Amino acid sequence: MTRINVTVDGVSYSDEVEPRTLLVQYLREGLGKTGTVVGCDTSNCGACTVHLDGTSVKSCNVLAVQADGHEVTTIEGLATDGELHPVQQAFHECHALQCGYCTPGMIMQACDVLKNNPDPSEQEIREGLEGNLCRCTGYHNIVKAVQQAAGAMSSSSSLASSQSSAQAVSS
Ligand code: FES
Ligand code: FES
Repeated sequence: MTRINVTVDGVSYSDEVEPRTLLVQYLREGLGKTGTVVGCDTSNCGACTVHLDGTSVKSCNVLAVQADGHEVTTIEGLATDGELHPVQQAFHECHALQCGYCTPGMIMQACDVLKNNPDPSEQEIREGLEGNLCRCTGYHNIVKAVQQAAGAMSSSSSLASSQSSAQAVSS
């Protein structure tokens, strides 16, 4: 067994794990973070996607020991103060899910796509999500949701920057 210290969804954990334990197993079975799901055994589906130090990874493809000393965010840590993340909100509003099994991974990957490219084209969104499979084939609404989230996030960041400029002018 190996001891790991990891922060998951803002909470610090220190646990003994077997060296072969996958990050997704640790999250689900060790911490009860069952919002992160397993959809394949071939590293193909992306259902298990989480953020490791802010970058998306397939957590079935990472060992728990590799997360030692790092920060993991799962779908369960994305909302802040009870308010859905703009990508979660957009998936809800655009009905970007059918069975919902791929949704946690899709949302985590979509966040990563928008972090790297806040104004992606439809093609760029499709390419950014190509490692995530939706078995219900609901890609059309998923892409629409990511476009809507991009718009919402860019208007909230321009609002924040105009508020801070206004504060700078008035101070
Ligand atoms: Fe990780 Fe399918 S469960 S890629
Ligand atoms: Fe069913 Fe994507 S909504 S797998």
